[in-house]
Amino acid sequence: MTETCPYSPGTEPGRDDRKSAELVGRRLVVGPEARVVGGFAFVRELLRSNVTRQAGVGADGEVVPDPTYTSVFFLDGDAHKRKRQAISKFFTPKAISTRYRVVMEETSDRLLGRLRAKGRGRLDEMSFELAVTVAAQIIGLTESDQAAMAKRIQATLVGVRLPQMPWWQKPFGRAGALVHGLRFQLRDVGPAVRARRARPQIDVISQLIEEGYTEQGILIECLTYAVAGMVTTREFIVMAAWHLFEDEALRARFLAADEAGQIEILEEIMRIDPVVNVIARHTTTAQDLTGGPVAEGELLVLNLREANTDPATVGACPFQIDPDRAKRQKITSYLSFGDGAHRCPGAQIALNETRVFLDRLLRVPGIRLQRTPDLDWTAELLSYELRNAVVACDPA
Ligand code: HEM
Repeated sequence: MTETCPYSPGTEPGRDDRKSAELVGRRLVVGPEARVVGGFAFVRELLRSNVTRQAGVGADGEVVPDPTYTSVFFLDGDAHKRKRQAISKFFTPKAISTRYRVVMEETSDRLLGRLRAKGRGRLDEMSFELAVTVAAQIIGLTESDQAAMAKRIQATLVGVRLPQMPWWQKPFGRAGALVHGLRFQLRDVGPAVRARRARPQIDVISQLIEEGYTEQGILIECLTYAVAGMVTTREFIVMAAWHLFEDEALRARFLAADEAGQIEILEEIMRIDPVVNVIARHTTTAQDLTGGPVAEGELLVLNLREANTDPATVGACPFQIDPDRAKRQKITSYLSFGDGAHRCPGAQIALNETRVFLDRLLRVPGIRLQRTPDLDWTAELLSYELRNAVVACDPA
């Protein structure tokens, strides 16, 4: 008897719903010095263990002795724990429901009002404006025009591409990163810091000021959030919309579901098409872990995409979207947002803003995906980038 898949009985067990797998398989290159780990249980064990340390792109150059000049992303140990504790209050379910949800709703309504007035719009532009506005509220970058700030943030990303540039491009890349970083500091970060020195608010910048951060330290943190929170969420919103537009049954289920049910669907989409494909770590000591031994000083590339589709954990037909999978397999969370000490603090923000926006978008009268997104590779995220997706609707 052939194996059938639980969510869609009768369909081919080999059906593959992933949209970005072929691109990532072709473009993601891992150097011979790294050991790639892709089993779900072992990846999670490594992320939770105390034998691994952050080794993300540029980690060596990013860690400087004073933790106020080092992004939370690149810290480890006690300094990291203190920084995470200090920001945890901005990411609680209560903070989302009392402070940020209204921003998600108002921004979605504004974007969709514009869409209805014009009859069509670029999905990736809407998703970036939403992601920037929501993250800016959490950070406290609210003293400048948000659409203009989104463009300045986009320009600063040249800095993230530096490690991948050929030697001859690096001086230009560095100069560009400096100019764009300075512009972001002068137009956005500086005014936000001055306003909060005069009148503190409930946001990351006010918190950093209270802890004695300099403006440069605050800029570093803002740039971390720009990449970690804004750029990733922009891509995910478009990816989730693409799946929902193309799968009628899934869309109907999404629109009929309550909030928890909608989030389950989004997490399942993110499982097969994660925005972050790999996380790099190095080991500090040799140890025998449940998943196998690690040697001291190993560079590990933890493949979240592969781990999320490991049949030993996620069950049969791992490349198919099955919103009941997590419950059936008793999985509390996949690895799309990492795990352990560095697990993404913004996971619920990203899922909730995607949910709020898509729930409204998919109810717009006459809404349709007029042009599917171009699926490109981005060296900034080592992942997919979805551009030029156009949605159209009945004119208001
Ligand atoms: C779909 C959207 C998102 C994805 C896929 C994502 C993914 C991730 C992943 C995989 C990590 C762990 C990196 C590691 O362990 O090395 C991470 C860390 C982080 N994320 Fe997110 N993220 C998203 C949205 C957000 C948002 C909305 C925010 C904030 C507004 C945010 C802020 C952060 C921060 C500050 C870190 C560093 C945490 C630390 O190192 O302790 N992320 N993210």
